Amino acid sequence: MSTYNESAAPKVTTVRLQAMKDAGEKIACITSYDFTMSRLVDAAGADFILVGDSAANVMMGYDTTLPITLDDMITFAKGAVRGARRALVVVDMPFGYYQGMPDEAVRSAVRIMKETGAAAVKMEGGEEIRESIARVLAAGIPVCAHLGLTPQSVNKFGGYGVRAKGDAEADRLISDALMLQELGCFALVLEKIPAALASDLTRKLRIPTIGIGAGSETDGQILVVQDMLGMNEGFKPKFMRHFGQIGKAITEAVGTYVSEVKTVTFPSATEQY
Ligand code: KIV
Repeated sequence: MSTYNESAAPKVTTVRLQAMKDAGEKIACITSYDFTMSRLVDAAGADFILVGDSAANVMMGYDTTLPITLDDMITFAKGAVRGARRALVVVDMPFGYYQGMPDEAVRSAVRIMKETGAAAVKMEGGEEIRESIARVLAAGIPVCAHLGLTPQSVNKFGGYGVRAKGDAEADRLISDALMLQELGCFALVLEKIPAALASDLTRKLRIPTIGIGAGSETDGQILVVQDMLGMNEGFKPKFMRHFGQIGKAITEAVGTYVSEVKTVTFPSATEQY
């Protein structure tokens, strides 16, 4: 007897992402941190779901991604993985669980894979975390790399501005990207860098690039789901497009509910036993 469900849509794999790049098909990525949202974005056709450490901001209300723990990430990821039937689910390794600590990096990545059922992890940085990434890859765990604005280093950068505008930083980013590809990372997120640099890198690299604030010529795009749905009204950087006004719709719907509870128009005679 097999537990394989033949009627299920084939899962997107890291191999499939590479085939998409090779065929010139764009990769649609989005974040999700729970079961219900994953079901919705998966049904909409997202190829890649990231359980990002942006959960620290949009799910927990922190100002930065630094405070979120590995246990927090695992809890969010357990729900997000269960909601995804087709999309590849990738989980962010949180700050403090891999930088400069290759043994700890493997332990953290193994916990994510074992306890959540995700297909891969994402790690921020280049040369400075080379050994940690190499050890995670050697354990058979696919790694998505992340360069440019890496929010876990916000205190080093002094803010969330555009990265690699100057030649020296751009050269370093290109050499990091080539090194990460040679190490075996299956994809590379490029956050908030000039579009021309992202385009150049996308042509240079064999592996797919996924952009956020990196122009239209990366192999895919990623946005934080609450931001693109218009649930964080105050957050509107230049690269963000609101594809819906769900925040407004929620406030209006809940407002109607509150008023109907208060006026006893809910529940009606047909809504009771
Ligand atoms: O944590 C996150 O959501 C991310 C994406 C914005 C790439 O790293």
